[in-house]
Amino acid sequence: METNGSHGITVRCKRIILFPLPFQGHISPMIQLANILHTHGFKITIIHTEYNSPNPSNYPHFIFKSIKDRFSEITDKLPGNLDTNYFLKHLNESCVDSFRDCLAALLAESGEERVACVITDAVFYFAQAVADDLKLPRIVLRTSSIGCVLAYNVLPFYSKKAYFNLTKQDSDYEEPVPEYPTLKFKDVVKITNNPQGMGDFTSNMLSQMKASSGIIWNTFKELEECELETLPQDFPVPSFTLGPFHKYFSASTSSLIVQDRTIFSWLDKQPSKSVVYVSFGSVAYITESEFQEVAHGLDNMGLPFLWAIRPGMVVGSEWLESLPEKFLERVGERGRIVKWSPQQEVLAHPATGCFWTHNGWNSTLESICEGVPMICSPWFVDQPINARYVSDVWKIGVLLEDGFKRVGIEKAIKRVMTGKEGQEMRDRITCLKEKVNLSLAEGGSSFRSLNNLVDYISSF
Ligand code: UDX
Repeated sequence: METNGSHGITVRCKRIILFPLPFQGHISPMIQLANILHTHGFKITIIHTEYNSPNPSNYPHFIFKSIKDRFSEITDKLPGNLDTNYFLKHLNESCVDSFRDCLAALLAESGEERVACVITDAVFYFAQAVADDLKLPRIVLRTSSIGCVLAYNVLPFYSKKAYFNLTKQDSDYEEPVPEYPTLKFKDVVKITNNPQGMGDFTSNMLSQMKASSGIIWNTFKELEECELETLPQDFPVPSFTLGPFHKYFSASTSSLIVQDRTIFSWLDKQPSKSVVYVSFGSVAYITESEFQEVAHGLDNMGLPFLWAIRPGMVVGSEWLESLPEKFLERVGERGRIVKWSPQQEVLAHPATGCFWTHNGWNSTLESICEGVPMICSPWFVDQPINARYVSDVWKIGVLLEDGFKRVGIEKAIKRVMTGKEGQEMRDRITCLKEKVNLSLAEGGSSFRSLNNLVDYISSF
């Protein structure tokens, strides 16, 4: 039943319960999705872990329920020897009881107000069995690209083919992967250092995505048209591509770290499209020597740069201790370093000329939305897949194929920032930016997909 709210919002008298994975790159799109659904009249409850919990005061229109996790048992393993598969498996086991109790209590107390469904991050594969037990439809939010999921679905993580242990000396290293030829063996090597664990994790996640009532993707049809066509063969559940989510609002408020906004007065003084923006996201780590190569690359290229260095991002350092000697004096006003930037606004700033990124999916999408070509330094999981798409499929950036080497860095920055090749990349990404805007506008693909999702949830 629908009624008209006092502010013109259709009130659907239905509540949706959402359960984000507690990492920046996953919390942001889930909160953005919650806001999108709220503006379509649904009431929102967020179940969240104690670890990395969102700040409820930023969202007075949502109800928040904290559940006990047992992260303290393993967080001492962060950041150094983090095995992502182990960590995600632990998460899926440690939250079962508290999530089930919380969800059951919410359903019991909902009374007249119907709970339509629960939307969980796809990584929380355990939630499908809980939702089934409670006879509640579960829709998943997958925060990566569709291409990433299709690749995960066919990559032979369990095989003995040694795909995952090749070194640069192996002749296969540059070859396309037969199961997913968009990728090279060298990309697959980067996805994980624990193929067995990754195989267990992906098979659990993918099977529970296939068993769900639907999949929401933070992508848009025009970007992944072929992938979207292939998807139903292996994922025969409704799919909704209503991204990029962050474009529904003026700026994101779901940052877990305080964003340094002092940089705008500096950015405002830089020439148009001159600044190289560097950030490797919320979980990637680099070694001290890689960090120094980045610094030398930025020093040598001679262009203005803004570098977001997350405290603890350099293994063994608190923050800037490992910078090359006199680096800060040498670059002077040409460079700015912050701990955490207001990234979406930096990318939208006219002075920003390119984005040197780890290619987390949010960062990749944010760059596309602002028409900023990329330099790609992927670290792990979906990032090498995103980077290969950026460089070889969409051709909107340059992949640092040999890792962090100052000479390669300088060359890559030149390729993106100057000359015909750079201009062509900029033209292609500008064209994608226009497609984003069309997809979100009335009648566009994301607009229609959102309406389909709203109708679908309303039908439960
Ligand atoms: C993680 C995984 O690494 C990634 O591969 C997966 O796709 C999502 O989860 P993360 O490292 O958090 O991603 O990167 P990304 O997905 O790009 O998200 C980072 C978010 O932090 C972006 O929304 C970005 O705007 C924001 N950010 C980053 C800032 O606000 N300031 C910064 O300085 C850096």
